[in-house]
Order: sequence, then structure tokens, then C-alpha cells
Amino acid sequence: AVPAREQWTGQVGFILAAIGSAVGLGNIWRFPGVAYENGGGAFLIPYLVALLTAGIPILLLDYAIGHRFRGSAPLALRRAAGRVGEGIGWFQVMICMFIAVYYTVVLAWAISYFVYSFDLRWGDDPTGFFVGDFLRAADEPFTLEFVPAVLIPLLLMWVVALVVLGAGVVRGVQRANVVFIPLLVIGFLVLVVRALFLPGAVEGLNAFFTPDFSALADPGVWIAAYSQIFFSLSIAFGIMITYASYRRRRSNLSTPGLVVAFGNSSFELLAGIGVFATLGFFAFQQGVGIDDLESLTGVGLSFMTFPAIVAEMPGGAWFGALFFGALALAGLTSLLSILEVIVSAVRDKFGLTRAQAAYGLGGALAVVSVLLFGTTSGLTALDTIDNWANNVGIVASAIATIVVVMWVRRAGAELSGHVSALSTFKVGRTWRLLVALLAPVVLGYILIAKIVELIANGYEGYPALYLGIVGWGSVLVMVLGAIVLTSARWRHDHAKFEAWP
Ligand code: PHE
Ligand code: NA
Repeated sequence: AVPAREQWTGQVGFILAAIGSAVGLGNIWRFPGVAYENGGGAFLIPYLVALLTAGIPILLLDYAIGHRFRGSAPLALRRAAGRVGEGIGWFQVMICMFIAVYYTVVLAWAISYFVYSFDLRWGDDPTGFFVGDFLRAADEPFTLEFVPAVLIPLLLMWVVALVVLGAGVVRGVQRANVVFIPLLVIGFLVLVVRALFLPGAVEGLNAFFTPDFSALADPGVWIAAYSQIFFSLSIAFGIMITYASYRRRRSNLSTPGLVVAFGNSSFELLAGIGVFATLGFFAFQQGVGIDDLESLTGVGLSFMTFPAIVAEMPGGAWFGALFFGALALAGLTSLLSILEVIVSAVRDKFGLTRAQAAYGLGGALAVVSVLLFGTTSGLTALDTIDNWANNVGIVASAIATIVVVMWVRRAGAELSGHVSALSTFKVGRTWRLLVALLAPVVLGYILIAKIVELIANGYEGYPALYLGIVGWGSVLVMVLGAIVLTSARWRHDHAKFEAWP
């Protein structure tokens, strides 16, 4: 017999899990720097436009597909759009496998740095400490040597994630989010309030919010806004399809969608305020402008700039612990959502139990993650795969999903009807136009621009052969994996476990 599909206990559980997925490293280390570099306060205009015209509409598309067709990405998209749909679903699952393998590594770093905060282990050269003592990053990208300071927290993160996943949607994923998300919000609020009282905080905020309206004429700024919204909402790579498939039959879909979208953006703004208040303090200490600081985003911001700031701050130890603790919690709840996409998909197709999927397949991913990234060559590969998975993989997946669902199968009216029948906030023609027309145009432009740039200029000065193998090779493996998984035989009889009528 086919077991009944698992379900969230209610709206709050779903919303917290969806916010847990959306609020991740991107909110804390990506948004502030991206906004600053793309017009400061003026960036909020393209950002809001991107949120309203593409972010929320595609978030609702994901919810509608997952709920109406009630399955993991491959199953739901197969029901929506046949075998090609299933293939796109598996492509999304493959993206999640790649992301899971390196995302966990960043969490592991955050855990190590949480511990290091207490004795400011990085001393007075945090950058040297990070690449040297901590990662022992080799100059040669291909050497393999285990790094215990990364390996141990990495194993720990995998064990935690797989145990939560193995415990199920309600007793694992939902429960973890119900505990961690409020904890994250409270901890982060304390951090931001503290940052606001640092000397120089106001100059930092001025730098962040001062609008440069001329930026609005630059298409690159609009691309940055749409890319940030896409990454930040975790849309178009299976996550929201999967989470929506666990909602009860009669569920309001669009109201929680708005709560999740605005909740995520609020957290992003809050992070912008906290990060720039802190950077303002640092610039003030050094007697320089914000502009003169290096590394305002990503790995550099979190593991080089922040440790340096913390070392100079009165009470820096607990400020650092709060920051790295927040990074770890935000990342862990996102990781759970990525892994659930994979677990859900293999269960639907191959009829595995949750334990088999979580511990078996999850365990295999953990081994890959440890072999690739518990070693000295981790940093370069991580950075490269991250760039290709996000800028090529996810964008391509979004376009493909829209094309097969909205254009080939013309499911737009069915899906908007489904959302509206259940929800207080109704969607109709405007939604269909935004999803079917505006989104693919914008996304197509972004994808082509990115591919051209990667081919013409490479990435971060890494050797072309290396980028071919690790960057383009990853995308190729995602496509091949999707083809193989689509052609495998269904072990699970889905006639008995139907989509909602
Ligand atoms: N949305 C997350 C963020 O803003 C990113 C994420 C990436 C989530 C991959 C899940 C998977 O950081
Ligand atoms: Na986010």
C-alpha cells in the first residue's frame, strides 16, 4: 500500500518552514553588499519591483504546482507537464544535490567560527587565519588533504541535518523550524540593536541607504535585483513545490506566500541595517570610509571582515557568537529544505521509506561533501560550483519550468483557479501574464548575459580548464543526472496516491 503523504500540522508550521528555507546565508551575507554596490537606498526600487513582478508570482507558481499536483518536484511536474516536466523536476533535484554538498560546508565554517568567537582565535590577521590556519587552502586547486577544523563540524552538521530529516516532515523539519526560526529572529534582533549603538553606526547606515538614483539607469542593477530576489526566496528549484505538497487539501496558498515573501525581505533589510551599522563602526575605527573596506559580501564579509571587526569591539566575543550562531541557524533551516527536495523525490519515485532516503542517499551526499570540502581544495571548488548552480542552474530551471507548465501544457488558468479557489488573496490574469511573459523575458536575458560573461571573462581568474570541469561540468552532470533519473522505472504506483482534485 502507498502510505499517505505527510502533512504539516497547520498553517503556522508551513509558514515557519518556508521562512526557514527562504531566510538563509543570502539574507545575511549577500543582500547587504549587493544593495550597497547597486545604488544603496535606490536599489530598494528595483528590488521591490523584482519582488512584486517576479518573486511573489513565481513563489505562488511553485506553491500552486506543489499543492495542486501534490508531489515532489519530479512527480508534481510530471503530473503537470508529462515526462519533460518530470525531467525538469529531476534537474531541480540535481541542483539541490550540488547545493547541499557545499552549503553544508559553509555551515560547518560558521559552527567553527561560533566556537572561535569565544577566544577570538583568529588573532589580528583574520584573513590570513581563514585561508591559512583554518582552511589551509592550497594554491593548487586539486590537492586533497583533510582539514580537521572543517571536517569535524562538517560531520556534525550532516548528522544533525539527516537526523532531523529522518524524523519526518512534522517531527523533524517542522519542529526544527518552530524552534530555530524564533531563536534566529530574536538573536539577530539583539545583534542589530547592539550594532546600532556602536560608534560610527550612523555613517554606515548613511552609506547603505544613500540613494544613487543614476544606478536605476543601469541594466546591471536590475539584473542584480532580480537575481537577489530569486536566490533569496528559494524559488524555481523544487523547494517550494516540495513544501507546498505537504499542505492539507483545503489550504490558503497565497496569504502564506505573501507572509513568507515579506518576512524574507524584512529579514534582508534588517540584515542590511545590522551589517552596515557594524561596517560603519569598523570604518570609523580605522579612520576610513566604508568604500575603502574590502570584502563586503559573502565568504569575505563573514569570515574575514566580521572577525576583524569583532576583534576590535568591546564585548566582541558575544557579538561574534551571535553573528556566527545566526549564520548557522539561518543556513541549517535552508539546508533542511534543500535536502527535503531530494528525499521527497526519491521516495515518490522509488518507494523508499523516509529513513532509507534520508540516511542512505543523505549519507552518500555527506560522504561526497566530506571528501570534496573537508580538504584543502575546498574553497575554490565551493565558490565555482556556487556560481554555476545559482547563476546558470537555477535560472535555467525557472525558465524551463515556466515554459513547460505555462506555455506547453497551458496550465496557467488551472493553477490560478486552484490558488484562488482556496485563498483569500486571489490571482488571475495579471499573475498569469507576469509568470508566463515577464518572468521568462527577464530571466532569459539574465541567463544569456551571464553565460556570455562567463564564457568571455571566466570567473575569478581561475584557469579555463578548471572552470570547464568544475563549473560547466557541474551543469552537465545535473542535466545527465536528470535524464537518467527520468528514464528510471517508477516503483511507486501513484494512481493510488492521487493529486488533489
Ligand atoms: N534562500 C536562501 C537564502 O537567502 C538561499 C538558499 C539557497 C536556500 C539554496 C535554499 C537553498 O540564503
Ligand atoms: Na533569503
